[in-house]
Amino acid sequence: MIAFTDLRAQYQAQKTEIDAAIARVLDHGRFIMGPEVAQMEQALAAYTGSGHCIAVASGTEAMLISLMALGIGSGDEVIVPAFTFAATAEVVILVGATPVLVDIEADTCNIDTAQIESAITERTRAVMPVSLYGQLADMREISALAERHGLAVIEDGAQSFGADYQGRKSCAVSTLGCTSFFPSKPLGCYGDGGAIFTDDEGLALACREIRIHGQSARYHHSRIGLGGRMDTLQCAIVLAKLKRFEREIERRIEIGGRYNLLFSKRGVERVSQRHDRTSVFAQYTIFVDDRPAVQRALEAAGIPTAVHYPAPLNEQPAYRERCVHGPLPNSEEAARRVLSLPMHAYLEEDVQDGIVAAVAKAVAGP
Ligand SMILES: Cc1ncc(COP(=O)(O)O)c(C=O)c1O
Repeated sequence: MIAFTDLRAQYQAQKTEIDAAIARVLDHGRFIMGPEVAQMEQALAAYTGSGHCIAVASGTEAMLISLMALGIGSGDEVIVPAFTFAATAEVVILVGATPVLVDIEADTCNIDTAQIESAITERTRAVMPVSLYGQLADMREISALAERHGLAVIEDGAQSFGADYQGRKSCAVSTLGCTSFFPSKPLGCYGDGGAIFTDDEGLALACREIRIHGQSARYHHSRIGLGGRMDTLQCAIVLAKLKRFEREIERRIEIGGRYNLLFSKRGVERVSQRHDRTSVFAQYTIFVDDRPAVQRALEAAGIPTAVHYPAPLNEQPAYRERCVHGPLPNSEEAARRVLSLPMHAYLEEDVQDGIVAAVAKAVAGP
């Protein structure tokens, strides 16, 4: 079976550095808030060009802490795309606010900027665009619109760390940018991890305090927080992997571009990328009509696939009653048609050729 995301190949390519980084942490024993935490924060702030980076327990915690730092809560509304991983809306509900779902663009699957303005009410406090599959939404337009209405923008960059948008990096183009180091993400650790990025010193301080139970000094709890730290071992692993990250991103972009070329020759529909930004292809995603049949044919050919995501949030049992929304035709259609294919920086050309041929055959049908 071909690997969907080849974490083993990635580890083998960087084994010496990763093993040494882990050994250093085992040796110094400062497993919580050890020196690698601040080292990783500095390295990632520099990488993205953000003023501040705050390491947290996961991508979900990054968004939850961001909302808490902004003081968003009961009675507030936050605009979220309907087609995303549940965590984006989950954190809005957890702070007591209401997610207002907006439709996506049919071709990129990112939030449709044109639909945001009409979703704004006097209760709206923030917009949370998701950089789905590794590509940012129209952040310049979204930021301009947010500024006009006095709203914060929180990028859910869980899938897009390393992507460029008009010469700037994902997570450094909004009030707060959040990412995830879940193992299969473009920059993954070996457990859970995440980070918040911001240029706002006050928000950075709030995020740091919320991360450690709202403490502004030891056992002095000046605000309500949570246990949201990222552990030292995971930070050490991200730091070690950062050395090869740019090279891996280049490979992902090459492989994604090659998929695009091969699929356009064969008439297979795929998620589009805009010219003023890169995708880091956290997922390489195509559109198919009879998805179960295509998945069955690919599985028989030893090719794993995944569906990100099988239902928009308005169709999820826990979210149906808790979100506000208008018509969402593009989100509903994407949920019926998207199919993600094997994608990682170590995917070889002959393997990719085999995947493309098998997909084209499966899409053509019997
Ligand atoms: C779009 C999106 N948002 C949020 C998350 C949550 O990240 P984590 O698993 O690190 O909490 C994910 C991870 O799967 C994601 O893909």
